[in-house]
Amino acid sequence: MKRKYLRLLAALACCVAAHPPQPAFAQAGLTDEQRSAAKSLADSGTLAPELRLSAQDMAWWRDAKLGIFIHWGLYALPGKGEWHMYNDKVPAAEYAKLAQDFHPAHFRPEGWAALARDAGARYMVMTARHHDGFAMFDSPSSYGAYDSMHAAAHTDFIAGYARAARAQGLKVGIYYSPMDWRFPGYFAPRELADNAALMKRQGYGQVRELMANYGPVDILWYDGGWLAHQGSDADAAWFWQPEVLNKMVRGYQPKVVINPRSGWQGDFDTEEGDAPITGPVRAKPWEKTFSLSFRAWGYTPGGGAMAPERAIRLVVDAAIRNGNVLANMSPDPDGDIPVDQVATLRALGAWMGRNGASLQDTRPGPYQPVDGVYGSTVKGRDVYLHVLAWPRQRLDLPPLAQRIVSASRMDGRKVLFEQTAAGVSVEVPADQRDPVDTVIRLEMAAAVPSLAP
Ligand code: GLC
Repeated sequence: MKRKYLRLLAALACCVAAHPPQPAFAQAGLTDEQRSAAKSLADSGTLAPELRLSAQDMAWWRDAKLGIFIHWGLYALPGKGEWHMYNDKVPAAEYAKLAQDFHPAHFRPEGWAALARDAGARYMVMTARHHDGFAMFDSPSSYGAYDSMHAAAHTDFIAGYARAARAQGLKVGIYYSPMDWRFPGYFAPRELADNAALMKRQGYGQVRELMANYGPVDILWYDGGWLAHQGSDADAAWFWQPEVLNKMVRGYQPKVVINPRSGWQGDFDTEEGDAPITGPVRAKPWEKTFSLSFRAWGYTPGGGAMAPERAIRLVVDAAIRNGNVLANMSPDPDGDIPVDQVATLRALGAWMGRNGASLQDTRPGPYQPVDGVYGSTVKGRDVYLHVLAWPRQRLDLPPLAQRIVSASRMDGRKVLFEQTAAGVSVEVPADQRDPVDTVIRLEMAAAVPSLAP
């Protein structure tokens, strides 16, 4: 047993440098990181539909609209992003030394959770283990005892995070990457089948630990169900058997909302990156995820932060199309959130404080969005118009079957409107408009159906 383990360690030490090149995508000029961002788009919807949550169990998630992501791990120390080990070809044994330097002076997850709540978020998701293999929790299943209990910190970060999020009334999400760059078998799962099987066993063991040991988990956010950085997550389902894995997950956490990146279709779709959101209302609930930092998901000094106006716009553009936003912040090695990220989240929170009721607890419709101009949300007899640009003095919209009783801003100021069989018009003086999204509440005489109930 011991000898087998030593052999494995020797294999692990060289795997980063030894992984085979990936010519197909390299030719296309995409980095592995970029391919990673796009890979789940190809996932199929046919596998194990019985594992999907009911509409009722998804309701809180769809109501929430905004969550805060946290990418935090050993990679915060070199400050070159969470792909540093792979991108810079750092040998696994060398990279592992970071664990002895990782003892954050300010691990105060209460502060993170308070910041998330003040930003208007209703849930959080934290990296329990990224592709580098280092577990931020007490993980007996970890190969080589590569977890935060055996590192300088001697702390179960996930336990502290989960407690703090719950104490702020936030739902608890856990990010977990089944793939682990330390295993040569990840890069050659058929040729090094035994080694790949060890990685798989570790993955199942760690998912079990995360589902069994931290109380109610509300979101399981997989990332990296693909193999050898090739194809999509769904292409690797032969290996990970995500229908088996997630059946086990449902045994521990029957109501946990699961994303699609284990290779199983998931309870919602993901879209990664901060590109503008366009198009019609999407039928399946979905989540836009992006980093507030311009450089990476993990901490990078001077990474900057997205302007609040862009963040607000992404939240609005997602909500009017049946989506949530998961905005990522990147604690530094001590556990502090970079000040420019804090500033953006506070400004987002101030806007949400004034306008959040026009997004949260709503559903999209009755109007299909017009990219860059307007969209709508609805809750019972309230229709919320989200006006992003005013092509003219007034905005002309298609007709509504229900009668408008009154039109007002979120602070109660009245809005001029006109309703005829031909359409609806609203008007807000230029100096009273919101630069990002002028929200108008139409109180209707009867309930208005959503385009995505
Ligand atoms: C990506 C990346 C990654 C990041 C992430 C967040 O696929 O591999 O580093 O954690 O997904 O969505």
